[in-house]
Amino acid sequence: MSLTLAIIKPDAVASGSAGKIIAHLEEGGFEVHALRMTRLSLAQAREFYAAHSERPFYDSLVEFMTSGPVIPMVLEADDAVPALRGAIGATDPADAAEGTVRNLYAESKERNAIHASDSDENARAEIGFFFSTHERLGLSG
Ligand code: CMP
Repeated sequence: MSLTLAIIKPDAVASGSAGKIIAHLEEGGFEVHALRMTRLSLAQAREFYAAHSERPFYDSLVEFMTSGPVIPMVLEADDAVPALRGAIGATDPADAAEGTVRNLYAESKERNAIHASDSDENARAEIGFFFSTHERLGLSG
Protein backbone atom coordinates (compact mmCIF):
# COMPACT_ATOMS: atom_id res chain seq x y z
CA MET A 1 0.00 0.00 0.00
CA SER A 2 1.14 3.56 -0.63
CA LEU A 3 -0.09 7.10 -0.15
CA THR A 4 -0.98 9.98 -2.43
CA LEU A 5 -2.50 13.44 -2.13
CA ALA A 6 -5.77 14.61 -3.65
CA ILE A 7 -7.28 18.10 -3.50
CA ILE A 8 -10.96 18.64 -4.13
CA LYS A 9 -10.82 21.99 -5.91
CA PRO A 10 -12.96 25.13 -5.35
CA ASP A 11 -15.35 24.36 -8.24
CA ALA A 12 -16.33 20.96 -6.78
CA VAL A 13 -16.58 22.26 -3.21
CA ALA A 14 -18.79 25.18 -4.36
CA SER A 15 -21.10 22.93 -6.39
CA GLY A 16 -21.66 20.61 -3.43
CA SER A 17 -19.89 17.64 -5.03
CA ALA A 18 -17.21 17.10 -2.37
CA GLY A 19 -19.10 14.42 -0.44
CA LYS A 20 -19.96 12.54 -3.63
CA ILE A 21 -16.31 12.67 -4.76
CA ILE A 22 -15.06 11.34 -1.42
CA ALA A 23 -17.67 8.54 -1.50
CA HIS A 24 -16.71 7.72 -5.10
CA LEU A 25 -13.05 7.39 -4.12
CA GLU A 26 -13.83 5.31 -1.02
CA GLU A 27 -16.01 3.00 -3.10
CA GLY A 28 -13.11 2.80 -5.55
CA GLY A 29 -10.88 1.33 -2.85
CA PHE A 30 -9.10 4.41 -1.48
CA GLU A 31 -8.84 4.81 2.28
CA VAL A 32 -8.89 8.37 3.64
CA HIS A 33 -5.97 8.90 6.06
CA ALA A 34 -6.22 12.64 6.57
CA LEU A 35 -8.59 15.33 5.35
CA ARG A 36 -9.38 18.97 6.02
CA MET A 37 -11.07 21.96 4.45
CA THR A 38 -8.88 25.03 4.01
CA ARG A 39 -8.49 28.06 1.79
CA LEU A 40 -5.16 28.57 0.06
CA SER A 41 -3.44 31.95 0.25
CA LEU A 42 -1.96 33.34 -2.97
CA ALA A 43 1.53 32.48 -1.70
CA GLN A 44 0.51 28.90 -0.89
CA ALA A 45 -1.13 28.37 -4.29
CA ARG A 46 1.88 29.82 -6.10
CA GLU A 47 4.20 27.54 -4.12
CA PHE A 48 2.04 24.45 -4.61
CA TYR A 49 1.93 24.96 -8.40
CA ALA A 50 5.51 26.31 -8.73
CA ALA A 51 6.31 23.59 -11.30
CA HIS A 52 3.79 25.28 -13.62
CA SER A 53 5.03 28.86 -13.06
CA GLU A 54 6.18 29.27 -16.67
CA ARG A 55 2.90 28.01 -18.15
CA PRO A 56 0.46 30.52 -19.67
CA PHE A 57 -2.34 29.29 -17.38
CA TYR A 58 -0.36 29.71 -14.13
CA ASP A 59 -1.85 33.04 -12.95
CA SER A 60 -5.36 31.92 -13.79
CA LEU A 61 -4.81 28.56 -12.05
CA VAL A 62 -3.53 30.29 -8.90
CA GLU A 63 -6.50 32.68 -8.94
CA PHE A 64 -8.92 29.78 -9.32
CA MET A 65 -7.29 27.69 -6.58
CA THR A 66 -7.58 30.63 -4.14
CA SER A 67 -11.17 31.49 -5.12
CA GLY A 68 -12.79 29.32 -2.43
CA PRO A 69 -12.23 26.46 -0.01
CA VAL A 70 -10.42 23.30 -1.04
CA ILE A 71 -10.29 19.86 0.59
CA PRO A 72 -6.84 18.27 0.57
CA MET A 73 -6.73 14.63 1.63
CA VAL A 74 -4.23 11.82 2.01
CA LEU A 75 -5.41 8.61 0.35
CA GLU A 76 -4.04 5.10 0.67
CA ALA A 77 -4.34 2.29 -1.89
CA ASP A 78 -2.22 -0.23 -3.76
CA ASP A 79 -0.02 1.87 -6.07
CA ALA A 80 -1.92 4.92 -4.86
CA VAL A 81 -0.39 7.47 -7.27
CA PRO A 82 -1.28 5.72 -10.56
CA ALA A 83 -4.49 4.32 -9.08
CA LEU A 84 -5.76 7.79 -8.15
CA ARG A 85 -4.74 9.31 -11.47
CA GLY A 86 -6.73 6.56 -13.18
CA ALA A 87 -9.72 7.16 -10.93
CA ILE A 88 -9.82 10.91 -11.57
CA GLY A 89 -9.31 10.77 -15.37
CA ALA A 90 -7.60 13.09 -17.85
CA THR A 91 -6.91 16.77 -17.02
CA ASP A 92 -9.49 17.90 -19.58
CA PRO A 93 -12.91 16.47 -18.62
CA ALA A 94 -13.72 16.20 -22.33
CA ASP A 95 -11.00 13.51 -22.50
CA ALA A 96 -11.72 11.88 -19.11
CA ALA A 97 -12.93 8.28 -19.29
CA GLU A 98 -16.52 7.53 -18.34
CA GLY A 99 -17.05 7.11 -14.61
CA THR A 100 -13.91 9.03 -13.60
CA VAL A 101 -14.19 11.93 -11.15
CA ARG A 102 -13.45 14.54 -13.81
CA ASN A 103 -15.88 12.93 -16.26
CA LEU A 104 -18.58 13.12 -13.60
CA TYR A 105 -17.82 16.42 -11.85
CA ALA A 106 -15.34 18.65 -13.74
CA GLU A 107 -16.32 21.73 -15.76
CA SER A 108 -13.17 22.46 -17.78
CA LYS A 109 -9.42 21.86 -18.06
CA GLU A 110 -8.82 24.41 -15.31
CA ARG A 111 -11.97 23.95 -13.21
CA ASN A 112 -11.39 20.20 -13.16
CA ALA A 113 -12.73 19.25 -9.71
CA ILE A 114 -9.70 17.44 -8.30
CA HIS A 115 -5.90 17.36 -8.21
CA ALA A 116 -3.79 14.23 -7.72
CA SER A 117 -0.05 13.86 -7.19
CA ASP A 118 1.79 12.67 -10.32
CA SER A 119 4.66 10.69 -8.72
CA ASP A 120 5.57 9.11 -5.38
CA GLU A 121 8.17 11.85 -4.84
CA ASN A 122 5.62 14.61 -5.45
CA ALA A 123 3.06 12.77 -3.31
CA ARG A 124 5.46 12.86 -0.35
CA ALA A 125 6.14 16.58 -0.89
CA GLU A 126 2.46 17.44 -1.41
CA ILE A 127 1.33 15.45 1.66
CA GLY A 128 3.96 17.35 3.68
CA PHE A 129 2.69 20.64 2.21
CA PHE A 130 -0.75 20.15 3.78
CA PHE A 131 -0.41 17.73 6.70
CA SER A 132 1.88 17.29 9.66
CA THR A 133 2.80 13.75 10.66
CA HIS A 134 0.52 13.79 13.71
CA GLU A 135 -2.49 14.64 11.52
CA ARG A 136 -2.00 11.49 9.48
CA LEU A 137 -3.66 9.06 11.88
CA GLY A 138 -0.54 7.53 13.31
CA LEU A 139 1.15 6.84 9.99
CA SER A 140 4.89 6.97 10.15
CA GLY A 141 7.27 8.33 7.53
P1 CMP B 1 -3.82 19.64 -11.62
O1 CMP B 1 -3.83 18.16 -11.58
O2 CMP B 1 -4.22 20.37 -10.39
O3 CMP B 1 -2.35 20.14 -12.04
C1 CMP B 1 -2.12 21.33 -12.74
C2 CMP B 1 -3.39 22.03 -13.12
O4 CMP B 1 -3.26 23.01 -14.12
C3 CMP B 1 -4.35 21.03 -13.74
O5 CMP B 1 -4.81 20.13 -12.78
C4 CMP B 1 -5.38 21.96 -14.35
O6 CMP B 1 -6.33 22.41 -13.39
C5 CMP B 1 -4.51 23.11 -14.77
N1 CMP B 1 -4.27 23.08 -16.22
C6 CMP B 1 -3.53 22.19 -16.90
N2 CMP B 1 -3.51 22.50 -18.21
C7 CMP B 1 -4.27 23.61 -18.34
C8 CMP B 1 -4.65 24.42 -19.43
N3 CMP B 1 -4.23 24.15 -20.69
N4 CMP B 1 -5.43 25.49 -19.21
C9 CMP B 1 -5.84 25.77 -17.95
N5 CMP B 1 -5.51 25.05 -16.86
C10 CMP B 1 -4.74 23.98 -17.06
